[in-house]
Amino acid sequence: MLWELAPELASVVIPERLGQFPTPVESMSRLTAEMGLAAAPLFAKRDDLSSPIYGGNKVRTLEVLLALARAQGAQRVYSTGAYGSNHALAATLHAARIGLSSGALLFPQPVSCTAAENLHALLVAGADVRPLQHWTSLPWAMHRLRAQQGDGAFVMPPGGATAVGALGYVNAALELGEQIQGGELSPPGTVVVAVGSTCTTAGLLVGLWHSVRIGLGFDRMPRVMSVRVTPWPVTSRVRILGLALECGRLLSATCGWPAPTRAELSVALDPRQRYLGWGYGRPTRSGAAAQQRWQRCGGHPLDSTYSAKSAAAAIDAVMEQRHPVLFWSTKSSASLSAWLDRALPADVPQRLREFVAQGRDSA
Ligand SMILES: Cc1ncc(COP(=O)(O)O)c(C=O)c1O
Repeated sequence: MLWELAPELASVVIPERLGQFPTPVESMSRLTAEMGLAAAPLFAKRDDLSSPIYGGNKVRTLEVLLALARAQGAQRVYSTGAYGSNHALAATLHAARIGLSSGALLFPQPVSCTAAENLHALLVAGADVRPLQHWTSLPWAMHRLRAQQGDGAFVMPPGGATAVGALGYVNAALELGEQIQGGELSPPGTVVVAVGSTCTTAGLLVGLWHSVRIGLGFDRMPRVMSVRVTPWPVTSRVRILGLALECGRLLSATCGWPAPTRAELSVALDPRQRYLGWGYGRPTRSGAAAQQRWQRCGGHPLDSTYSAKSAAAAIDAVMEQRHPVLFWSTKSSASLSAWLDRALPADVPQRLREFVAQGRDSA
C-alpha cells in the first residue's frame, strides 16, 4: 500500500513479498463481555499470522531490509539480538527463501521455552550463530563483523531498527486504515503494541500520522501505547521518537510527503513501564493472568516475553478508556515443529546447547 501511494520510494527499496497481508483483525468480544464491557470493543491485529513459515511483526521489517540487502549486493544477512530473538529466526528463515544465507550475533537472556525453541530452530536452519558474553559487547562485535565480512554481509541492528526498516510498519498502519475504511473495525482510540527495539512503534506512529493526514480510516491520531518489553533507555521516548522522526524525514525527502513534528508524535506516544516486571524475557504475574484470560475467551496463545505483557496492557486500556482498543499481536504463531524435530548440529557451542536444553526442561 505504501509503495502504491508513494511510488518514489522504489528509489530507496522495493520490498520483497515475504508475508501474507493484510493480516486479519479479530474482535475479542468474548473477553470484553466477560469483563462486563460489551460496549468497549477490543480488537486484535493478527500479525502473528503474517507468515506460516515464521510470522510476527518482524516479517514486515524484513520485507524491506532483506530487499535492501539484496539490492546492495550482500550474500549474507546478520541479525543481532538475544538468544531467542524472533528477528534473528525470522531473518534466517525468510532470507533463505530469497537466496541469502544468514547469521546472528546473539547475547544471553533469561531461559524460556519459546526462546529455546527459537534458538533451536535457528541453529538447525544453519545460521552462522556467534554467541556473545553479554549484550554490552554487541556494538564492538557488529563493528568487527562488518570489518571482517565487508560488502558481502548486511549487518542489521537489533530488531532491524532503522528508518528504512520502520517503513514496514508505516505500511502496516496504512493497512489498518484500509481495514477501518472497509468496515472491519471501528477506529481504535488506543493501539497497544510491545516495544523492544522501537522499530515497530516508530513505524506505526508515522504510518498512523499519515493515515490521519490522508483520511484513511482515522480522523484523529490514536494513542500509541507502547508496552516496554526491554528496559529504558533502549525503549526511551527519545529513542522511539528519534527513529520515527528519521523515518518521517525519509518519506519527506524521497516522496515529498509532509513530515510529522516531534510534538505531534509525542502527544500520541504513551510508553508503559509497569508491564515489564523484572526485565526482558522475565514473565510477569499480570502477563500470565492476561495469557489465561485471553485463551479462556477464545483468543490465540500468547507468549510470556512480548504478547502477554502487551495484552495485559490492552486489557487494562479497555477497562480504563472505554473506547475501542486495538491489540497488535506481534509474536509469530507459526509452528516450529519441523525444525524442533531435528537434532542440533554437532558443532553448536556448549553454552547455546545448554540454553536449548534448559528451555526444554522448563516447558
Ligand atoms: C514478538 C515481538 N513483539 C514485539 C517486539 C518489539 O518490536 P520492536 O523491536 O520493533 O520494538 C519484538 C522485538 O523485539 C518481538 O520479537
